[in-house]
Amino acid sequence: MMDSDLLDPYEELVSIEILGHRVEVPENNRLLRCFQFLSMRTISYGDFCWNGDCTNCQIWYHREGQTEGDDKPALSCRTNVSEGMVITRLSRFVELEGINK
Ligand code: FES
Repeated sequence: MMDSDLLDPYEELVSIEILGHRVEVPENNRLLRCFQFLSMRTISYGDFCWNGDCTNCQIWYHREGQTEGDDKPALSCRTNVSEGMVITRLSRFVELEGINK
């Protein structure tokens, strides 16, 4: 389990989908932190600025009930997680153990 100091305070996990995998991640946190929660080593040692400059953390997502035609890009270091997000594509820099690695 990751050092809880890295995460913003949370009480519950929310359910999202990443490349077809249903996962539970901490609410009230940026997506890149959620990715780190799921895959500590690859994200911690990944090539990320964490502040919106490098775009290496880019993802594409839609909401539950929408389709891939509704996909929009987002920077995961700048976007808060929310229940029901469906992430369909990850930048090649985002490697998640058990999902795309
Ligand atoms: S980590 Fe660099 S833009 Fe998100």
